Amino acid sequence: MLEISDRTRTLGTENSFVVLGEVRRLCAEGKDIVNFCIGEPDFDTPENVKEAAIEAIRVGKTKYTPSPGMRELREAVAEYFSETRGIDVDPDSVVVACGAKPFIGYTILTVTDYGKGHEVVYPNPGFPIYESQIKAQGAVPIPINLKEGRNYSFDVEELERKVNEKTRLLILNSPHNPTGGVLSREDLEKIADVVKRYENLWILSDEIYSKIVYDKEFLSIASIPGMQERTIIMDGLSKTFAMTGWRIGFAANERLAEHLARWVTNTESCAAQPSQYAALAALKGSWSDVERMVETFKKRRDLIVEGLNSIEGIRCLKPGGAFYAWPNVTEACRLVGAKDSEEFRKRLLYEAGVAVLSDIHFGEKAEGEGEHIRLSYATSDKEIIEGLRRIREYISGNRVV
Ligand SMILES: Cc1ncc(COP(=O)(O)O)c(C=O)c1O
Repeated sequence: MLEISDRTRTLGTENSFVVLGEVRRLCAEGKDIVNFCIGEPDFDTPENVKEAAIEAIRVGKTKYTPSPGMRELREAVAEYFSETRGIDVDPDSVVVACGAKPFIGYTILTVTDYGKGHEVVYPNPGFPIYESQIKAQGAVPIPINLKEGRNYSFDVEELERKVNEKTRLLILNSPHNPTGGVLSREDLEKIADVVKRYENLWILSDEIYSKIVYDKEFLSIASIPGMQERTIIMDGLSKTFAMTGWRIGFAANERLAEHLARWVTNTESCAAQPSQYAALAALKGSWSDVERMVETFKKRRDLIVEGLNSIEGIRCLKPGGAFYAWPNVTEACRLVGAKDSEEFRKRLLYEAGVAVLSDIHFGEKAEGEGEHIRLSYATSDKEIIEGLRRIREYISGNRVV
């Protein structure tokens, strides 16, 4: 028989794409679904950005660029990182790729060796690609449990226990998918104190939601004294400028840039040139559309969190960033006789017409944490109100206790 590798057969995935396929199929069958699955802004890409790409295509800027990205774009990213992180980032330290996501794999490949027992510590729950890439690249996944009781911040004592001489990489993600948690300066300083004890420990700081914060300023671990050298700052335009389909992300680290760029050469060659021109226009142009989007997300956050907390059996912390709510639905599951969040999710989808993701899509459940679902509020107020109404009615109409 023609075999498929173990690595590929056991490769993880991002279940939002899988559930989204299910939702699209149901919609195509004529079902009316309120969709809280999608992790992308529902806004259109700003006009000046679209125009820049159209103009680039028109004048024939449709070829390969250097693998690390066009010089002007690397300069613009370096300027953006320097300003927003309060550090000095050189354009030579910047690499551009097709979205931020490829840098997860590239970074793991760059700082760990296959099968040598190199450990990578990452947040759990968390963006599922961390775990799947750690495993696929032959490193050892070590989850750090983010707990509701700690407002989903990092438990530094747990970090201290889990980091050792074999740990090569710590992945941080703030603001965090799926909880919306934001790491404070105090958290970051404590994390930095632990990291500093290890000579050979890199940090991948996934800052893709850095511009989507509501109550306090975003802070990067790279801004903490002594951390820039070992931090790969990862960000992009997907969420900030509603550009998920343009596939532009970037990373910065002085030592690793040339190696990350070689991974780009080995895989994507370079990001699409028209998209790079669009990215340049986004970074250099007006940020008023971004401000407007973030203002809107903030209002929706308040709407959805308040609405969720008013439903019997559901309690939800207020997320400080990103566009996800991560309510605890343990009691709701008990009320309707669902054995866990995944059964609850399926019942919401098929019986109530509400699409959400469940906690099993974001890693292994930590003991005692209960059941959670993720709702993306990158959708209209009208949809949020209707979705909440359906969830409320579903729970009250299907009680078994
Ligand atoms: C935490 C996190 N990192 C990275 C990404 C990927 O971003 P991009 O679309 O730029 O590849 C996402 C997208 O959902 C995300 O949630």
